[in-house]
Amino acid sequence: MNIKTISTQPFADQKPGTSGLRKRVPTFQQPNYLENFVQSIFDSLEGYQGTTLVLGGDGRYYNRQAIQIILKMAAANRFGQVLVGKGGILSTPAASCVIRKNGAFGGIILSASHNPGGPNADFGIKYNISNGGPAPEKVTDAIYTRTKEITAYKIIEADDINLDKLGSSQLGTMTVQVIDSVADYAELMESLFDFGSIRELLTSGKFRMCMDSLHAVTGGYAHEIFEQRLGAPVGTVQNGVPLEDFGGGHPDPNLVYAHDLVEVMYGETAPDFGAASDGDGDRNMILGRKFFVTPSDSLAIMAANAKLVPGYSQGLTGIARSMPTSQAPDRVAEKLGIECYETPTGWKFFGNLLDANKATLCGEESFGTGSNHVREKDGLWAVLFWLNILAVRGQSVEAIVKEHWQTYGRNYYSRHDYEEVDADKANELITKLRGDLSQLPGRKFGQYTVDYADDFSYADPVDGSISQKQGIRIGFTDGSRIVFRLSGTGTQGATLRIYLESYEPDASKHDLDPQVALGELITISEEIAQIRHFTGREQPTVIT
Ligand code: G1P
Ligand code: ZN
Repeated sequence: MNIKTISTQPFADQKPGTSGLRKRVPTFQQPNYLENFVQSIFDSLEGYQGTTLVLGGDGRYYNRQAIQIILKMAAANRFGQVLVGKGGILSTPAASCVIRKNGAFGGIILSASHNPGGPNADFGIKYNISNGGPAPEKVTDAIYTRTKEITAYKIIEADDINLDKLGSSQLGTMTVQVIDSVADYAELMESLFDFGSIRELLTSGKFRMCMDSLHAVTGGYAHEIFEQRLGAPVGTVQNGVPLEDFGGGHPDPNLVYAHDLVEVMYGETAPDFGAASDGDGDRNMILGRKFFVTPSDSLAIMAANAKLVPGYSQGLTGIARSMPTSQAPDRVAEKLGIECYETPTGWKFFGNLLDANKATLCGEESFGTGSNHVREKDGLWAVLFWLNILAVRGQSVEAIVKEHWQTYGRNYYSRHDYEEVDADKANELITKLRGDLSQLPGRKFGQYTVDYADDFSYADPVDGSISQKQGIRIGFTDGSRIVFRLSGTGTQGATLRIYLESYEPDASKHDLDPQVALGELITISEEIAQIRHFTGREQPTVIT
């Protein structure tokens, strides 16, 4: 085998963010840019020679080229075998499933998640460890350190692998297995949910659903699971052909970007149930007829109904939610007598809790929900979870959510994003806020009194590691909160996120528009952080 050692120089900007390294495609296309990062991953690992690596991506522009490079580098670095999804495709949760099922050493996932794709849009790469989950901070830190020192990478000279044909071939001494991207994942879903009852619901003629794959990776998975295995009519899945640029859209399942679905679900002949997932298939949005379920409520409702779902009928060991996610799941945990963990933003913080069996369900306000079945959030899994609940309860989505609020009270919730603001200004805003924190407790703003104000720090209950500066929390005496943090996934400028939450126990006040219910807190957030002054913006770019 012809292994070449190519000398290279470090790039200064290869620090992984919330979910791997994300940059514009032209950045990744610079000579040695991808290679440096991949070699830095391999250099940070120990004992992988001869083992299995899983490789796949969300199919966005540059996916195929990157896969060919990584395969040749994996061979040169002496992996024993690489399992690669057909066409280079693996959704993020499917990659996690394949890593776990095959006892792989780890996996490389190529995705920039919900960010747009195309020659001038985003690309990304992240490393997952043997439990199937995103590499923890100590691993991503080691990778970053390596990127700053790297002087050479290894690659073999060989022809490209045919990614469109299932089966195995050799790259030097390494075996490449092109695997069915959907099979293992679909089988796992069948083992967790009552496919019989869901099939009855979807073929009853009395229930219609619409799944919007936003021209992203779940297209193939959704056609197979909903239309083939569960018998839903052809056409149930819309925008189901994965495209390298996602059809020019923004593959993010929220009310703004999943507009085709929103039109269908708020139309005169709306189906009973609507769902969407993102670029790499780990996010989900759940809708009823003319009704939106906030992701925080979705997690709480799944937890409260978990016993109805075969894979979770034994009960939950605990729930985990990211800090900015609403406290609705905490109320369910309290009633169930289980722990609700509050972690920093990003799925990697759930891995230890899941591995230690401290939590069964996890979720984030950013349209991410998942469980111990894999170590990533999982869009289609969430859709199936809801379908299973709907099949058992026989009520509408709206009725189930409203009943939940009656029992637990409603946590009004909204996130306001200011995208692509000047990075220096955004940092100034956060620095100023940090400086003001100690003076806030006890201060009154309208009907609200500040109870605590801090910069969230997390001590992992399993390995004791501490993560600091994870977002500024301002808590009020009635349990309402405002959280400020800067995004760790953007590629241009900075994105300021403001998370707003209030609690309403009185069922007669559960029908307000969240922007109205949160109106006073929105005004207070401006007063406390001077958002207009620092961002130069009059209003948020996206409200979810
Ligand atoms: C965003 C979300 C976060 C999620 C991450 C990856 O990160 O807020 O919850 O885990 O994408 O999907 P952020 O851009 O806020 O750092
Ligand atoms: Zn994603």
